[in-house]
Amino acid sequence: MKILITGGAGFIGSHVVRLFVNKYPNYQIFNLDCLTYAGNLENLKDLERNANYTFIKADITDENVINKLFAKHQFTDIIHLAAESHVDRSITDPLAFVKTNVIGTMILLNAFKTTWQNNFEGKRFYHISTDEVYGTLGETGLFTETTSYDPNSPYSASKASSDHFVRAFGETYNLPYIITNCSNNYGQNQFPEKLIPLFINNILNSKSLPVYGDGNYTRDWLYVKDHALAIDLAFHKGKNGETYNIGGFNEWKNIDLVKLLCQQMDEKLHKPIRTSEKLITYVKDRPGHDLRYAIDATKIKNELGWEPAVTFEEGLSITIDWYLENEQWLNNVTSGAYQNYYQKQYI
Ligand code: NAD
Ligand code: TYD
Repeated sequence: MKILITGGAGFIGSHVVRLFVNKYPNYQIFNLDCLTYAGNLENLKDLERNANYTFIKADITDENVINKLFAKHQFTDIIHLAAESHVDRSITDPLAFVKTNVIGTMILLNAFKTTWQNNFEGKRFYHISTDEVYGTLGETGLFTETTSYDPNSPYSASKASSDHFVRAFGETYNLPYIITNCSNNYGQNQFPEKLIPLFINNILNSKSLPVYGDGNYTRDWLYVKDHALAIDLAFHKGKNGETYNIGGFNEWKNIDLVKLLCQQMDEKLHKPIRTSEKLITYVKDRPGHDLRYAIDATKIKNELGWEPAVTFEEGLSITIDWYLENEQWLNNVTSGAYQNYYQKQYI
């Protein structure tokens, strides 16, 4: 098998690449990534010498390059994670999200279709998506695989659009695909623009913790290595043409999560209780902010036998320890362009 993993230098992608390279020495793993601000080869330093691993620096929106790479390598399978992934950035620059998430996905679909013509036997296009395509929940209910798409942010609209194109290629050209829609991930190597690593970094630098609105927004959090294991299972055992929801069975209101994070940080940094909590600052809300996401992951549990293995308290503690032990990683990714982003977004 020659598996093309896109976005492998990013947060979730790096965990997926590591799992596949180590677990399947007989597969050739190609990690294609153009290394945006969110992509970082430091995330994969330990794999550089593996015989079954190749890194390709390329942009999925560059049709010529992608077509040439497919002609050369004849990838048998794709696990597609490359994307612009941050809601706040999609509000300031929506077009960038259409280019990468919609057009980039289309270019990969076309290249896959052209390479294999109608001979798709044993091949698979696996598209990684998000629960945000379903829009927002009220105080009750869960997203299932049959919930209607109702995206509210340019990010979720671009992901919804790419999901539709993948499904359309399945219906129209019999392209063998699966899609998984996952809830919010956290863990090692997440870029510090997302809630958990941003707040860890701010606590380390005694900066305020900007909670949007009243903080009563709810997300369903999943440890990234549990997501990677779900991807492994869905890739090998999932049925073509199916969608699976992946979630943590783990809902937290933002403000409660932030207080737990502050408590764990105080303990680990040997600070008096409630020191970090004093940094909490309520700021202007995100426009179009979805109230609540929560996944019903019964289908993947019943059909593929997947369940999250790591509890939130454990996963959060492991995550904080990793950031404390890797301050150099944090310093590297938060220098330069990150400073401009931070100024524009928060100050
Ligand atoms: P990320 O932003 O950390 O990483 C994205 C990676 O894609 C980066 O390495 C970046 O360099 C690369 N990339 C971006 N544009 C590219 C392009 N044009 N060509 C090639 N590479 C490009 O994202 P993530 O959080 O790891 O998310 C990965 C995937 O999982 C995305 O598709 C996202 O929508 C989906 N997802 C994320 C979450 C989450 O909580 N982070 C939850 C559900 C689904
Ligand atoms: P985020 O990590 O950006 O993920 P998503 O928007 O994809 O769910 O945000 C998680 C939640 O935290 C979301 O409700 C927005 C909120 N949030 C803040 O309150 N302050 C912040 O600075 C950020 C980045 C997020």
